[in-house]
Amino acid sequence: MRLIVTDDHAEMSRVAGRLIETAIQLNPTAALVVATGNTPLQAYQELAQLVQQDQVDVSQLRPFQLDEYLHVPATDPRSLFGWSKRAFLDPLQLPVEHMVRLRGDVADIPGACHSYDKAVEATGGFDLAILGLGPNGHLGFNEPPTEADAPTRQVTLTQTSLTSNAGYWDKLEVPTRALTCGMRHLLAARQILLLVSGSHKRDILWQTINGPVTSAVPSSYLQQVSNALVIADRSAWPYPV
Ligand code: F6R
Repeated sequence: MRLIVTDDHAEMSRVAGRLIETAIQLNPTAALVVATGNTPLQAYQELAQLVQQDQVDVSQLRPFQLDEYLHVPATDPRSLFGWSKRAFLDPLQLPVEHMVRLRGDVADIPGACHSYDKAVEATGGFDLAILGLGPNGHLGFNEPPTEADAPTRQVTLTQTSLTSNAGYWDKLEVPTRALTCGMRHLLAARQILLLVSGSHKRDILWQTINGPVTSAVPSSYLQQVSNALVIADRSAWPYPV
């Protein structure tokens, strides 16, 4: 695991946008798994600007959804597919069919997880995982405790995540169950980018980087992954590097 510390959120987003653009230029058919949440939003905007300015061809990209709420249709404002569309697909002018979905709005949930895993395997695994850090160390919705080889599956969200998610949807009821891409696929990605911003992430980022590698902090598994890069702003990592 490597760490880059930027002055602020804007610089973190610029650095991340540039890195993602480079990854796409080097591999135009890259399979990317794409986090939602607040942290990467500006990085995706930076990426879209760079792609337009440098005329990078993104038409062959293979984006994958990272997680989804259970029984929330794509038209619901809480849907993470909808979030992925607004934050990632639309700025890159990619049609929605381009994204491999993790569907929480179907009757057969184990089947949906299985077909997602099959699609990841068929593509040869992820070239790049773009992740945010949950307040409890979750990556995707791999809530603690999660083993490093956990498959794509349905999970019950912890109180920490429910409280954190409540902030995204004002008065809407926060779903308590979700589907997540398994830790196994995330840790096997050929490149992992973890974006972390804000003083509220300071303690969990410290545990991620310096704490014991433990299922109680799923992000701590990244310590064992040499191709994981953490880009944190100074409010999340105010310590010497
Ligand atoms: C989002 C996701 C979550 C978030 C994490 C951080 O698809 O899977 O793991 O990345 O909860 O969220 P923010 O960036 O809003 O602090």
